[in-house]
Amino acid sequence: MNESQNGTAPIEAGGDADRPQWGSKLAFILAASGSAIGLGNIVFFGANAYKYGGGAFYLPYLLALFLVGIPVMAVEFGLGHVFRLSFPMALKRVAGMAGEFLGWWTLVNAGIITMYYVAILSWVLGMMVYAFNALWAPVSPAVPAFGMAAGALSTPMAVFFHMISTWTPVFAVVVVWFLNAYFTWYGTKSIEKAVQVFVPTMWAFMLIMIVRGLTLPDGNHGVALLFTPQWEILMEGEVWKGAMSQIFFTLSLGFGIMTAYASYLPEDSDQMGNAVATSAMNCMFEWIAGVAIFSILFAYSIVPKASTLAMTFFVLPQGIAQFPAAVTFFGVAFFVVRLMAGLTSSISLVESLVSALIDKFHLPRFGAIVTFSAVGTLGSIAFSWPRVVDPTLDGNGTLGLTLLDLFDHWAFSYGLIMSGLGTLLIVAWKYGAERFAEQLNKTSRFTLGKGFCFNIRYIIPCVLAAILGLGVTNELKDGIYGSTFPVQNFMGFDGASLATACFAVWAIGSVVLAGVFTFLPARGKHADGDPEQGDPL
Ligand code: TRP
Repeated sequence: MNESQNGTAPIEAGGDADRPQWGSKLAFILAASGSAIGLGNIVFFGANAYKYGGGAFYLPYLLALFLVGIPVMAVEFGLGHVFRLSFPMALKRVAGMAGEFLGWWTLVNAGIITMYYVAILSWVLGMMVYAFNALWAPVSPAVPAFGMAAGALSTPMAVFFHMISTWTPVFAVVVVWFLNAYFTWYGTKSIEKAVQVFVPTMWAFMLIMIVRGLTLPDGNHGVALLFTPQWEILMEGEVWKGAMSQIFFTLSLGFGIMTAYASYLPEDSDQMGNAVATSAMNCMFEWIAGVAIFSILFAYSIVPKASTLAMTFFVLPQGIAQFPAAVTFFGVAFFVVRLMAGLTSSISLVESLVSALIDKFHLPRFGAIVTFSAVGTLGSIAFSWPRVVDPTLDGNGTLGLTLLDLFDHWAFSYGLIMSGLGTLLIVAWKYGAERFAEQLNKTSRFTLGKGFCFNIRYIIPCVLAAILGLGVTNELKDGIYGSTFPVQNFMGFDGASLATACFAVWAIGSVVLAGVFTFLPARGKHADGDPEQGDPL
């Protein structure tokens, strides 16, 4: 089966015969859409849509989806298809060291996102336990650790602050990382098992939720809110930036994930078709969740919050608490579903990083998984446990300026888009957009023509560069994110220096780590992945 040995393989092929493969096309679609569907779809979308002007958000969102999202996904899938290698190794085939560096940098940036994503999942798990009863108590408990009296906060808020002031987040982080390792232990085989159960369950539950939401008295009015445009807001660059970041995040683009997942497909796969199917599933799920959530909030006249974390942990539980029946069922199930959705996303990054480590260094899979999970556990604890920054917990407990917020600002709003821009420059300019399209067209139902090539060569890079430029301009104008934050002394730290330190750790740390992975020599049979070593492009 190893075609690169009998000489019939296209010269680009880089994978080997023992590369894992998805058991079926369905398994792949479940895994790719499971990666795409995550916390981003269930609450971030609604919070962003609300923050950026309700219905008006749809215009930038849809433009970002069709103009940028689907084509970039086709490019990321295409890289895996053409080279049958993980992200850094595939980019190395096209652009040597520079390409490989971008690939590792992407994975490091995504690794940081994974650490705080798991921190959020650990809170979801922690809150799930309380959803069996305490979360629905009429009067909120005191939160002694943060100095808040009984009744001072809404019940979900008080429960949340109580939860994060105990050891629960640490314990929950360990559980979530254990599950990440468990579901990636046998690669595609174990991922398939997880997504076959989790993804259909998530859909079933969201369909129940949309029916529940719309049948609440006045529930349908929430939908109107979500679809009532505020056109003025379209003039603000921030909205376009927000829409683009949301599209990258929700579609799992700029993580290096889709390339690894596509590299496990048979050679005759239709990658443009896969990109359309995966994006469609993702966005349908997102819209269903958006309508479900807004109808619930509206039915109980709860003002949605622009903060995604507030939506997840305080606002929605307040709505569910007022359901006429089955509060505990809906409450617990909602946290369970969010945990499942998050896990099918986080395992996709674990798999992509592990796949890259195996491709380059020929590490044993189990060793790579255990090492990454151990590092990830420590990182996630730093994000999830307030005692890390303030052992006495004498801060006021607002979620204003936490480590999570500070890293999210760089890794999410800039990192993903930077990776996307670099990938397009390498694929469309170095490899050649037409040549790339030709490769994909061989096995694709949709023919990628001149429009696609023009788009990935000129339009998308310009759009992404403009968005990054806008961000940097604002950063220079207003001071580095967080350095002028109103909460100056957060949890015993001077807010400004904490913010600057986080930026430095993200910027310098990711470059150094990516450099180390790039310059360490390849080992084992994939040392031949190096174009300089006699593998012509
Ligand atoms: N697409 C996911 C979402 O919408 C985010 C995501 C994808 C992710 N892959 C990930 C987050 C890996 C962390 C790690 O929520």
